[in-house]
Amino acid sequence: SQPLRAHATARNFLIGTAVATGPLSNEQAYRDTLNREFNTVTAENAMKWDATEPNQGQFNFSGADQIMASAQANGQTVHGHTLVWHNQTPGWVQNLDANAMRTAIRNHINTVVGRYAGRIASWDVVNEVFDDNGGMRNSFWYQRLGESYIADAFRYARAADPNAKLCINDYNVEGINNKSTAMYNLVSRLRGQGVPIDCVGIQGHLSIQYGFPNDLRQNMERFAALGVDVKITELDVRMRMPADSNKLATQATYYRNVIDACLAVPRCNQLTVWGFTDKYSWVPDTFQGEGAALPYTENYAAKPAYQSLHDAL
Ligand code: XIL
Repeated sequence: SQPLRAHATARNFLIGTAVATGPLSNEQAYRDTLNREFNTVTAENAMKWDATEPNQGQFNFSGADQIMASAQANGQTVHGHTLVWHNQTPGWVQNLDANAMRTAIRNHINTVVGRYAGRIASWDVVNEVFDDNGGMRNSFWYQRLGESYIADAFRYARAADPNAKLCINDYNVEGINNKSTAMYNLVSRLRGQGVPIDCVGIQGHLSIQYGFPNDLRQNMERFAALGVDVKITELDVRMRMPADSNKLATQATYYRNVIDACLAVPRCNQLTVWGFTDKYSWVPDTFQGEGAALPYTENYAAKPAYQSLHDAL
């Protein structure tokens, strides 16, 4: 049968994956599946601050350029990830005073977004700015600059690439809860102030142990009503290891429910999985004893979760 991207493209939908530069360089099986199945890609790490500007004013685009070139050669759009985040940001940034930090953000965004202007469809401008209770995360950004860094980052990004769609991205905002409501309120307020924000990214790092967020569709609909696009940006569905056929079947229902919810909301135009093969996934490194979160096995065999995506598209 046809790959995911054929069905997605036919309905003007973006089906994507995070891409890691290691296997992109080294492994034909990885490239084959990546380029056969997906019509959009996100750099898993290569566009983060520690990769692109490890020292002040000294930029390194080797990984990012590699992903851009691969995407272009394979007819894939690129979702940029990410400009302002509290993780994977070098110490030199974290130690700046307020004025210098604001200038560093502007220069970083100008340089990174400017380099790829016209070639990146959308950017995660800010990532994970909330805590889980719906307050602003008490990051070094917030401590030094207050909330102002968020609006500034969007304005700098718009100036550097007027055609890129600019997103705010976060996790644990799948259902309607204090955190997603804080995100909703912020997007509403910023748009009211004319801040250029075009999309909301819902990461979608789910676990079969925590239950499915059944109000996902309703949550996406309220964001869409603000006039922004909605994307599922980092979907994976983890389980306690070892996997078995029951867990994989449950996982497949989660994948199906996520893509069905997205396809039911006209402004939900993209679903990206956070890697596609269990061979390369952040889950086992991050969540002790958990894994098997992606649509393909470590040997590139399609799992029931893949079939869910395929059936829905
Ligand atoms: C993760 C990557 O997958 C890992 O390789 C890296 O070591 C840490 O970051 N939310 C995000 C992503 O926005 O950037 C994170 O990616 C996963 C959580």
